[in-house]
Amino acid sequence: MDFSFVLDPYYIGLLLSGLLMTLLLAVISVVFGSLLGLIPALMRLSIHKPLNIIGTSYVELIRGTPLLVQVLLIYSFVKLPVTLLLGIDMSSFVPGMLALLINSSAYVSEIIRGGILSVDRGQTEAALSLGFTKNKTLRVVVLPQAIKHIIPALGNEFVTMIKETSIFMYLGIAELMYMASMVRTGTYAVKETYIVVAILYFALTFPTSKLMGMLERRLKKSDAK
Ligand code: ARG
Repeated sequence: MDFSFVLDPYYIGLLLSGLLMTLLLAVISVVFGSLLGLIPALMRLSIHKPLNIIGTSYVELIRGTPLLVQVLLIYSFVKLPVTLLLGIDMSSFVPGMLALLINSSAYVSEIIRGGILSVDRGQTEAALSLGFTKNKTLRVVVLPQAIKHIIPALGNEFVTMIKETSIFMYLGIAELMYMASMVRTGTYAVKETYIVVAILYFALTFPTSKLMGMLERRLKKSDAK
């Protein structure tokens, strides 16, 4: 085993910039995926059948197909036509990002829906009987309580997304796995490169999971008061 490349500023620079890109992809997909996920979540909670069906189909379709297929589909739908028709060479980052946040939105949508359903119905009934509108009930009574279940689960989604970004290697986006392939070909230290990469992923995911666990316990405590 030869780990000497970790002391080479060039190679370690490649890996760290890849790590940064991985983090960026994960943050953007969870933040925007959460905003987008709110729509199917509310659709699935609605009593209007057509809305319900559309929301459910969106979530089921995305959760029922592999992320890799979605990435390649969106890539070919968005990137190739734009490049050919407009002559603009859109970076793979945009279609890749789009695919990742759409994927995340379906999973987050279920997190939000679960969070909202976890709030006892009596709370809604009480608010409505006090003359609150439906909208206000959702905003001031249900969502603040639901958020306690939603936030820790979003942390888990973030951890998942950090790992799932590795799929972007196929699009030539310079995230950690892509950089690993450059280090591997440059150094011929295949096993060593992947060991270092695994450590780097773990250095991101483990503290995040621990932090979320702590947050969850704290939110639970404040709930019990
Ligand atoms: N690798 C799996 C897939 O291809 C999991 C995707 C998980 N996505 C998420 N947003 N939690 O479908």
